Amino acid sequence: MSDSSEPVRTPVVLAEPPLERLIDARWTLGAAALLIVGGLAFGRLGPWEALLAVAFMALAAVVAPRRRRLVAAADGAAVAGLVSLETKAILSGLPEPVLVLDRRGLVLAFNEHAMAALGEIRAGEPVSFALRAPEVLDAVRAVSKSAEPQVVSYVERVPVERWREAHVAAGRVGSLGPSVIIVTLRDLTEQRRSERMRGDFVANASHELRTPLASLLGFIETLQGPARNDPDARERFLAIMRAQANRMARLIDDLLSLSRIELKAHVRPRALVDLSALARGVTDALGPLAKERGVELQLTVDPESVFVHGDRDELIRVAENLTENAIKYGQSGGRVDVAVRRGAGGGALLVVRDYGPGVAPEHLPRLTERFYRVDVAESRDKGGTGLGLALVKHIVQRHGGRLLIDSVPGQGASFTVALERAEDEPQDAAELPLKQAG
Ligand SMILES: Nc1ncnc2c1ncn2[C@@H]1O[C@H](COP(=O)(O)OP(=O)(O)O)[C@@H](O)[C@H]1O
Ligand SMILES: [Mg+2]
Repeated sequence: MSDSSEPVRTPVVLAEPPLERLIDARWTLGAAALLIVGGLAFGRLGPWEALLAVAFMALAAVVAPRRRRLVAAADGAAVAGLVSLETKAILSGLPEPVLVLDRRGLVLAFNEHAMAALGEIRAGEPVSFALRAPEVLDAVRAVSKSAEPQVVSYVERVPVERWREAHVAAGRVGSLGPSVIIVTLRDLTEQRRSERMRGDFVANASHELRTPLASLLGFIETLQGPARNDPDARERFLAIMRAQANRMARLIDDLLSLSRIELKAHVRPRALVDLSALARGVTDALGPLAKERGVELQLTVDPESVFVHGDRDELIRVAENLTENAIKYGQSGGRVDVAVRRGAGGGALLVVRDYGPGVAPEHLPRLTERFYRVDVAESRDKGGTGLGLALVKHIVQRHGGRLLIDSVPGQGASFTVALERAEDEPQDAAELPLKQAG
């Protein structure tokens, strides 16, 4: 701890300036002065004696110990007693950690949030025992001197990194109560984290767009310059340029989808979707890609249809992304299994499994982060944007489901989407009453 916090750590009753104490004692001093003037007038006191009497009076007023309005002892019970039950009730209702200190920095009261945020706090103890940030202690000291409110931000490093902002202001407990210092803490950690993530995201997205753009510009220059009259080169370059432009378009599509899904993250889609039919549609559509890569694409669906509540187009994107990844990254396994089945306890499962190289365990937790790729060059080669699994995760979350990734390196990977099965399956719902009636 820095020594700048010492004055608060050792609670010292600030000595009042002599002039203030003289002013405080003005009535006693005035009465004594009258007596002295009287003594002078009746010739009972000589001028020197009168002067000496005045000097003694003034000295007594300045140095004599006085009863303070605020408790002098750092006694927990006595100190806490200064804060009314009403004030304590208000404190306990506030949503942020709040501490009330006396002007020397002793804790008078605090709420439960303060206890949760700071751990050990005790009434009557210096605030520096619980709150160690020198910035805040400086602010407390400044407010005790000038009553000018202060806002400081600081970071706690242990046990975990936490950003906080402390608002320190002077106040009064009740209309006649002692003047106090109120410290309110705000947790800025989430805000900082999301700011940092947004910054990273913009940097990543710009970088991903700039790479194909730079290559496009390079080819345009070459076509306008050295390759101007070379028809072979022109054909070759135009093909590459087309691929790069497609990649930019895919990236922009994915970015837009991601932001659209984030916008409605808290709205559960309610349409009834046949997961088996959906998986069939996706495997049919990806058949040609599988064939081109020499991968056998196999679909297994539960004999009973599996319905979920959701958004059809979004769930198609989920199945598409997972199956396409399995074909592209698991190509060497030569086989991809897609399955839809009923899970335990009313669940609906979509499982995509490949027999390729799989994913090393250290990459698993980060796989669904935006732009995270095990091998960036490989992903780019295969036309990837690094946003596929991020999209999958967001869609699954919006559906109230879970995405489970499992992999044994060398033996392949399996991606399972677990959703809640819809109860009101249309055939059953339509058939039941008829059967009962017949
Ligand atoms: N079935 C899989 N087998 C091995 N690695 C995979 C598989 N699916 C995804 N990955 C890894 O996860 C990364 C992120 O996937 P994704 O978000 O879909 O991005 P993209 O496919 O555009 O690269 C991929 O780049 C790849 O490294
Ligand atoms: Mg992908």
